[in-house]
Amino acid sequence: MGDQKRHAPPTISPLMVNQFPRDMVPLLRCNIDSGELALAEEVRSDAGGVWDAVLRCRTCGAEFRIEDGIVCLLPDRLTPEDQHEMSIRDTIDYDCTNPSSFVPPAEGWRSLLSDRLEVPEHLDELETLPTSTVVELACGDGRFTSLIAKTGARILAVDFSINALRLLACRLPGGAKVGRVHADINQLHLASGAFDRALTLTPLDSRDERMNMYRTIAHALKDDGRYVGSFEHDDLNRRLLGLPLMRRYSKDGILIEHLTTKRMRLEAAPYFSKLCVRPIRPRVPFVAKLPPGLAFPLLRLVAALPFVRHFGELLLLTAQDPVRLPVEGQHRSGNRIARGAYRSYMHKKNKKASWGEESV
Ligand SMILES: C[S@@+](CC[C@H](N)C(=O)[O-])C[C@H]1O[C@@H](n2cnc3c(N)ncnc32)[C@H](O)[C@@H]1O
Ligand SMILES: [Zn+2]
Repeated sequence: MGDQKRHAPPTISPLMVNQFPRDMVPLLRCNIDSGELALAEEVRSDAGGVWDAVLRCRTCGAEFRIEDGIVCLLPDRLTPEDQHEMSIRDTIDYDCTNPSSFVPPAEGWRSLLSDRLEVPEHLDELETLPTSTVVELACGDGRFTSLIAKTGARILAVDFSINALRLLACRLPGGAKVGRVHADINQLHLASGAFDRALTLTPLDSRDERMNMYRTIAHALKDDGRYVGSFEHDDLNRRLLGLPLMRRYSKDGILIEHLTTKRMRLEAAPYFSKLCVRPIRPRVPFVAKLPPGLAFPLLRLVAALPFVRHFGELLLLTAQDPVRLPVEGQHRSGNRIARGAYRSYMHKKNKKASWGEESV
């Protein structure tokens, strides 16, 4: 799934959707103080949106640019690991100095096999509607964005690789409603309660980064919103062989952490009341060598079997019911009988029911 679009060469076509849609500006917030951003100046624009513009924070007056349709919210400082990953993504994974067709490798997360195993699982959980407003953090070059855009949903697509965002525009279907944002998701602020869906496919490299991401997403989602994310699993194979929880994809490559179901629940629980975690993309030796007609039924069977499904290399998280922080002074419904009894008791004493506002 998604392979056809990924094969599209990243060349400029007349259908290419690359303006930033004006109606997505209210979804953004200032990096410094979370203030609302407004379009202060449109340098290059048309009815479909803006290519070059200035956004100004209504609170502190800080200015941010939209350049070639991409909102620039990247802060001055990144952690050394994020800086390292950003340079790898820009120079190796999404190199667009010499754009050519995307050729999926035989193995790994960009292979056709991997796509067919993990893409439908994510999209089925996400259940996007044509009316949905979606935030996709760490969108890469649009493996998922292009598929979600086909449903008619509007998507705010965020990544810290500028090249990924440029390639993404080439992979979108005509008429897609996508706003691209160049930002570090660890330092991103979004409008509160504005999104129906959130999607992430990035392991991030620490508990603190993941928890910060859950906080950002819970804040940005509507009360009935839904978040789908996947993370590297500390699968049965790794546990049996005693492989490290923390490792790099390759020598000097990107740092990742493998998570257990329990760890993932513990980290997400402060931000979402309803959580579902399950392993997907099972590891079966030599399966890539089998004909697809045999490989897929076999992998689907393995993913459904009680014990062996824990060989799944990814953990898929579906989170709902974002936890809201208590608002100062906001009363709750309480118990009707208790409230009535208290009110008539105070009435009998000729006093006004104070409901806890008395000074201590
Ligand atoms: C494994 S790729 C997945 C890309 C895409 N979601 C997909 O499934 O094809 C992870 C992506 O996360 C992005 N990324 C990692 N850390 C990030 C951060 N702190 N801020 C923004 N993007 C980040 C990388 O640039 C990369 O595009
Ligand atoms: Zn501001």
